Amino acid sequence: MTETFRALLIEDRDGKPAAGFRDLTVDQLPDHEVLVEVAYSTLNYKDGLAITGKGRIARRLPMVAGIDLAGTVVESRSDRWRPGDKVIVNGWGLSETEWGGYSRFQRLKPEWLTRLPQGFSLQDAMAIGTAGYTAALCVDALEDWGAIRPGGAEVLVTGAAGGVGSTAVSLLSAKGYTVTAATGRPETHDYLAWLGATGFVDRATLAEKGSPLQKERWAGAVDSVGSTTLANVLAQTSYGGAVAACGLAGGFDLPATVMPHILRGVALLGVDSVMAPQAKRDRAWATLAAHLDKAHLDRIARVEPMSELPGLAADIVAGRIRGRVVIDIAG
Ligand SMILES: NC(=O)c1ccc[n+]([C@@H]2O[C@H](COP(=O)([O-])OP(=O)(O)OC[C@H]3O[C@@H](n4cnc5c(N)ncnc54)[C@H](OP(=O)(O)O)[C@@H]3O)[C@@H](O)[C@H]2O)c1
Repeated sequence: MTETFRALLIEDRDGKPAAGFRDLTVDQLPDHEVLVEVAYSTLNYKDGLAITGKGRIARRLPMVAGIDLAGTVVESRSDRWRPGDKVIVNGWGLSETEWGGYSRFQRLKPEWLTRLPQGFSLQDAMAIGTAGYTAALCVDALEDWGAIRPGGAEVLVTGAAGGVGSTAVSLLSAKGYTVTAATGRPETHDYLAWLGATGFVDRATLAEKGSPLQKERWAGAVDSVGSTTLANVLAQTSYGGAVAACGLAGGFDLPATVMPHILRGVALLGVDSVMAPQAKRDRAWATLAAHLDKAHLDRIARVEPMSELPGLAADIVAGRIRGRVVIDIAG
């Protein structure tokens, strides 16, 4: 294959990472076993940092940006994958140590690929993206812990109007849990109620330092905020409950005490999507395929052409993006 195609490359320019569109050929891609034609990727905060240069995401240069992708296998030297297979890749160091999704073609290791679940299109998969897949990992972790019960005590979702939060609200409510949304944006209440939230908490009430043990309220929680928010959520979690923590939108510190853990048996379940083993990924995507309302996806996500990435990256870093942005790689 000698034709050229476009990719968004982070390169070294005078000692600093700089992003720009470049024409590549398949020969220039890494020598991994599976060649995928990428249809869609997504825009995440991490991508914004990489493209604007506001964060050092790429650990080697040149680097094709984009932390996830969905596409079709074109060639394969692995007997696990055949041309025509529809696949998803989330994490595995894409855009950090491995070339990522903002490229019409990419070569990938066979073990990084997840089969597209039945019922989802490639566009659906990226409307869910890494944020939605992480939300599913959190829900699975809470269910495994065994503290949450459909129709039972409330499950809290922090950062509820964000990418992880919106999908967590939708998924938990579809599974019959009673969901309360913590958000700083009252204008999103109608949207969150439509996704299934039945209660609301102003995120400011969780931002102030609170006492180590507070009134028991949550059977479980999905937290994408961290810092004092996570400390307060732990202090408000009921006996035997659990909090699945995946994010740091409010800060990476955790000013908490051991009290909820040693007096109430509360569990803090760490959730990582980047290096999660394949079995967890397959299960998370199966959870999404079985329970996520497709109508919710259409409202959570919008599609933008790859040519718009530089402006979109600046927008997400400045907090101007709402919902999820799917990137059309052919655009
Ligand atoms: N562990 C993993 O593998 C993994 C995977 C994906 C994402 N993440 C992390 O999860 C977090 C959320 O990702 P996302 O894609 O959902 O991001 P996002 O779409 O930007 O949403 C983050 C949400 O957090 C809330 N928030 C923002 N700043 C805050 C602050 N200072 N204090 C309290 N709340 C604040 C906002 O919710 P409201 O508007 O509702 O208040 C915002 O919508 C990020 O930290 C991301 O890096 C981790």
